[in-house]
Amino acid sequence: MMSATGSSNIFWHECPVGKVDRQKLLNQQGCVVWITGLSGSGKSTLACSLDRELHSKGKLSYILDGDNVRHGLNKNLGFKPEDRTENIRRVGEVAKLFADAGLICIASLISPYRDDRDACRAMLQDPNFVEVFMNMPLEVCEGRDPKGLYKLARAGKIKGFTGIDDPYEPPLNCEIEIKQKDGVCPAPSEMAVQVVSYLDQKGFLQA
Ligand SMILES: Nc1ncnc2c1ncn2[C@@H]1O[C@H](COP(=O)(O)OP(=O)(O)O)[C@@H](O)[C@H]1O
Ligand SMILES: [Mg+2]
Repeated sequence: MMSATGSSNIFWHECPVGKVDRQKLLNQQGCVVWITGLSGSGKSTLACSLDRELHSKGKLSYILDGDNVRHGLNKNLGFKPEDRTENIRRVGEVAKLFADAGLICIASLISPYRDDRDACRAMLQDPNFVEVFMNMPLEVCEGRDPKGLYKLARAGKIKGFTGIDDPYEPPLNCEIEIKQKDGVCPAPSEMAVQVVSYLDQKGFLQA
């Protein structure tokens, strides 16, 4: 098969230790927990809470956070649609490597476009991609505005801000939805427990 570089001289090298061997070592199943939602919806908060919860259960996880990844791997990308797509593609590929390493990879990114998220889902084998939708109303996210970005977007000082002048496409059939109950957002530990219960129930927390 021709690679994207146009060269047909690139081969896959099989290594002797496989995913199953690593999973046995870790007593867990490698997978990707993909957290999507508006800025300020609590993605990073859930990622950290989930990471801590898994760690306390002796499970190995690793967070790929959108903001952090843009400091390194993706620092040459901006926020225009092509760059957002490439941002998600790269994080999806890295998350796939972490999952293959046997880790529970927690990816927390706005990832506003459905096609981009679905492309990541397609990269993983299906049960191994767990999409978590932070279904928080825009008013709640905007009210929090911890980084002052909504204020700047409303003032027209940031262009193409998700939820303001760039679309957010909610998942159509995600595995987990986090939402308010009676107008109150669940506490970070409650959100984490919801995800851990799912992972446990699906058998990810044992080899
Ligand atoms: N479950 C929650 N309950 C109350 N406040 C929350 C909750 N989750 C997040 N927050 C607050 O909302 C703000 C945005 O959260 P953050 O995790 O940074 O969002 P995101 O990563 O989606 O942009 C932070 O100030 C955080 O403390
Ligand atoms: Mg964040």
